[in-house]
Amino acid sequence: MQISREEALTTRQETIKVLARGLAHEVKNPLGGIRGAAQLLERDLDDPALREFTHIIVEEVDRLRDLVDSMLGPNRIIKHEPVNIHKVLERVRALLIAEHPHVTVNRDYDPSLPDLSGDESQMIQAVLNVARNAVQAMSDAETPSPELILRTRARRQFTLGAERHRLVSEVGVIDNGPGIPESLRETLFYPMVSGRAEGSGLGLSIAQSILHQHQGLIECDSRPGHTEFRLLIPLVINCTGEAS
Ligand SMILES: Nc1ncnc2c1ncn2[C@@H]1O[C@H](COP(=O)(O)OP(=O)(O)O)[C@@H](O)[C@H]1O
Ligand SMILES: [Mg+2]
Repeated sequence: MQISREEALTTRQETIKVLARGLAHEVKNPLGGIRGAAQLLERDLDDPALREFTHIIVEEVDRLRDLVDSMLGPNRIIKHEPVNIHKVLERVRALLIAEHPHVTVNRDYDPSLPDLSGDESQMIQAVLNVARNAVQAMSDAETPSPELILRTRARRQFTLGAERHRLVSEVGVIDNGPGIPESLRETLFYPMVSGRAEGSGLGLSIAQSILHQHQGLIECDSRPGHTEFRLLIPLVINCTGEAS
């Protein structure tokens, strides 16, 4: 059941991603023209009050372009280098503590976990997107004694999608905040789905595509007081049986 559920979810996410990318391209094309025309118009305007309007056009076009760029997602080829997952988590922890000093960020690491093969900066981005949501949710809900746990585990003989893997590295991001709103549970990983007024709704969809690029995926369980995201990444095993 879990396999078919995950497959259906992945297929739906892929469909949405293709749609979003197609739309993003179509939106992006005319933006250059609008921006150029506004700048030309600005040259002929003497009234500063009118120039204010052309400024607004240029600024809004730039904002839209940035939004569309982030919807197109990470477009560079990902690296395949050995990545120490604990180094990734320590970086994320430092960033979170700097942004939200009132949140306790605890570690629960399995130090025996071998390096994975992937792209370190992309992994930092993925974990950060997930963990930042947790910290934001706890701050917004004014959770008493907000706590985030960064946990690593090795999972043996683990099935991801339809494939069984000898060894999978699991990164858990666990918070004691309000939980994911019921109305978002099904569509959480879609682009532009957000529960926050100022949210872009792109964080989790970008994190999920990064995990897909590493042949992995993100799972989530949530109830009030306990929300757990698990980032699962298969480890490549060479013939000596050592993870590489
Ligand atoms: N740990 C969490 N606790 C509660 N809600 C969460 C958590 N993680 C994600 N969410 C919900 O999922 C939404 C989507 O997250 P995301 O894709 O990162 O977009 P954004 O952060 O821009 O809203 C968030 O707005 C929030 O409502
Ligand atoms: Mg977010």
